[in-house]
Amino acid sequence: MKIFIDTANLDMIREINSWGILDGVTTNPSLIAKEGVDVRTRVKEIAEIVDGPVSAEIMSVTAPEMIAEAREVAAIHPNINIKLPMCVETLKAVKVLSAEGIKVNVTLIFSAHQALLAAKAGAAYVSPFVGRLDDIGTYGIDLVAQIMQVFQNYGFATEVIAASIRSPAHVLDAALAGCDIATIPYDILKKMVQHPKTDEGIAKFKADYEKSVKN
Ligand code: G3P
Repeated sequence: MKIFIDTANLDMIREINSWGILDGVTTNPSLIAKEGVDVRTRVKEIAEIVDGPVSAEIMSVTAPEMIAEAREVAAIHPNINIKLPMCVETLKAVKVLSAEGIKVNVTLIFSAHQALLAAKAGAAYVSPFVGRLDDIGTYGIDLVAQIMQVFQNYGFATEVIAASIRSPAHVLDAALAGCDIATIPYDILKKMVQHPKTDEGIAKFKADYEKSVKN
């Protein structure tokens, strides 16, 4: 499974990139706003750090505007992909942009029907929001599994990004469902490294080593 980080924070991106496990980055307007920066400047900075796709969300609402804005943003750096929210105008825009070789991540996916339509229009990625479905009392990960099944049934090349990831268990669930990509917040990536038994084992090996060196 490919691992993306879901943030617009450069320090976090640099750190996780240094681990050697980072395949890409997703941003959204909320994450960019948290950094208090200009979207185009920030996605360019990110694209220069990470050797992989960087999703930049664009805010136009009609297909012609989406297409024009997407062309401009995609031209900033070859790593930049366009992120558009699921709606009819997005489907129209995806059809045009994908024919031009501009990759689109269709976001805010909350049903397999939406994912099927996005894939048919030519989306490179779809992003089902796992945590936000859990928030309303459903099992978000079931949607990821459904989309994987539908895409496998028909051989769609569209990759599925498990988004709105809130815990290491969500990442594991996505991996068990065979999801192509998980986009993961920084604090969850840090938690994935840790295990109390690992820390305990390291401390014990260190203590035993120091005892043996002294003897
Ligand atoms: O990738 C989508 C993500 O940024 C949304 O996460 O936690 O706001 O639902 P959340």
